[in-house]
Amino acid sequence: MSQQDPHSYTDLEQGITEHINLDLVVDFDSKRIQGSVRIHLTEPSEGILDLDTRALEILSCRTADGHEVPSELADNDPIFGSRLRLNLPEKTQEIIIEFETTDGSTALDWLAPEQTAGRRLPYLYSQCQPHHARSIFPCQDSPRARFRFTAAITVPEGHTAVMAAASTGSHPGKKANTTTFTFEMPQPIPSYLTAFAVGDIVSRDLSDRVRIWAEPEVIDSAAWEFGEVDPMIGLAEGIFGAYEWNRYDMIVMPFSFPYGGMENPRLTFLTPTLLAGDRSLVNVVAHELAHSWTGNLVTNATMEDFWINEGFTVWAERRILEALEGTDFAALHAANGRTDLEAALADFGPESPYTQLKTPMKGVDPDEVYSLVPYEKGFLFVTLLEQTLGRKQFDAVVGRYMEKFRFTSITTEELLQFLEEAAPGLLDRIGVQEWVYQKGLPANAPVFTSPALEQLRSLAEGWDRGVRPGSDQAQAWSTEEWLLYLKALPKIMTIKGCEELDGAFGLSSSGNYEILVAWLTLAVRSGYEEVLPRVREVLTTVGRAKFLRPLYTELLEREELRPFAQEIFDEMKDRYHTLSRVAIAGIFEKTSIKG
Ligand code: BES
Ligand code: ZN
Repeated sequence: MSQQDPHSYTDLEQGITEHINLDLVVDFDSKRIQGSVRIHLTEPSEGILDLDTRALEILSCRTADGHEVPSELADNDPIFGSRLRLNLPEKTQEIIIEFETTDGSTALDWLAPEQTAGRRLPYLYSQCQPHHARSIFPCQDSPRARFRFTAAITVPEGHTAVMAAASTGSHPGKKANTTTFTFEMPQPIPSYLTAFAVGDIVSRDLSDRVRIWAEPEVIDSAAWEFGEVDPMIGLAEGIFGAYEWNRYDMIVMPFSFPYGGMENPRLTFLTPTLLAGDRSLVNVVAHELAHSWTGNLVTNATMEDFWINEGFTVWAERRILEALEGTDFAALHAANGRTDLEAALADFGPESPYTQLKTPMKGVDPDEVYSLVPYEKGFLFVTLLEQTLGRKQFDAVVGRYMEKFRFTSITTEELLQFLEEAAPGLLDRIGVQEWVYQKGLPANAPVFTSPALEQLRSLAEGWDRGVRPGSDQAQAWSTEEWLLYLKALPKIMTIKGCEELDGAFGLSSSGNYEILVAWLTLAVRSGYEEVLPRVREVLTTVGRAKFLRPLYTELLEREELRPFAQEIFDEMKDRYHTLSRVAIAGIFEKTSIKG
């Protein structure tokens, strides 16, 4: 027996899920899902089959012909959840498990009407990556176990259910005043890519293969913001080969969605904070789209190999941006990524194993060590491979990589072995051992610069000497230029400096959350309390962890602002997504020990 994933009880030697039928009945009153899952194995099996569950009530386990399957639900482990151990009778190929979710389901975010744009109907969405699918249905919740599925989601009349899958229709549900939506996912996916949303959701076609979903109040601005996504698909196909998922749809989530985007196949989930009104944040879509290849088609075997998903995807994201907006634009993104990477490395410290690309994860909750390291260090590693081999040759290697590993989940070592065969000697030349298995950032990391970028940087660094951007100049800056400038300014500004900056450029009233939060972070750190009302506004409307984390961190660094932060957190904590709530509670803890 061998369990191969540090976050799952899955043992593929016991049996392999081939496809599942999922039947979910959503009950907003009890905030529970009544469900059943029919698990079809690749071959008839017998004996022990371990499944992952978390916070599920298991009602029954039966074979296809109705015989009870002996089962045992273990105590909850904080990282793994509860192992559901089945003892399969001889020649069992199909198991049907009935269950109910509970309020401990870490994948589900149940929103009251007031938490939606329409404030009329409740809303439910799932977020399964990395190890939360098990809190919706019992499964082999490890990326190595790929399965196809069909699904039925029954919801109260007036609600729409969408799923990261192909829609196969809808019909009245068994219970009065319900509707059942049905779906099919014909490609084998890892469990973390199962995803759905239920609410007052409408759609608009943006092209013959791209559709945007959102609440009615948001659909116009969403349709505009993402109106030019279709050509990105062709650009990505140029790098990776054919798009395998048929449609590329997107859904704009309510504000509590804890990520910028999530690459659920055929239906990317997006934070509403991308709706800046000027299409300036669509790099997130380029990123999630690129996951259609790097992540969804070729998947990390476990979270120890997460950089395979994210490093390649950030590289692809910037290749798409380069094709659309030019090399200088892509270089700006890379330069800002480098700044963020250095901050993340410093945060972890030089001895931390979480600065390695291959990350040891035994006994570690992946949500607790989520950082930009696998993204940005991974990006630099892939870029170094590209630069060393030359773009044309490297693209050919990437094409073969996709071809060879499509619809599989691989370890870092499998990837490296492939690279060694595809481009002999390349890995040695760049010092692969240090890159992949050691901490920090190797000295041969690629550096991104351009004259425009250097000019911005020296403009910011001259702030204390009275150097200022011309107002016409700054008004024309892109989001990335603003971010570069703000991050290069003195870490602590004078109050007068803050007043001047905000007065000249109206940063506090920016509707672009990237710029707004970068500014507010700097302002709070500098002790500029004028911005506190705006900070409160952000913390009470936005649920994206990327924005909550720095703001709470800076507030809590200042003893006198602790009560302010505490009051907001007390008010909001039940409305934040579990992930954001846990992350922020962690910041409270860390800073109270320090102070
Ligand atoms: N797959 C990730 C989000 C994720 C990672 C969820 C790990 C749960 C666990 C997604 O593709 C992502 O990276 N989103 C970024 C977008 C950015 C890098 C452009 C985000 O949410 O900020
Ligand atoms: Zn990603």
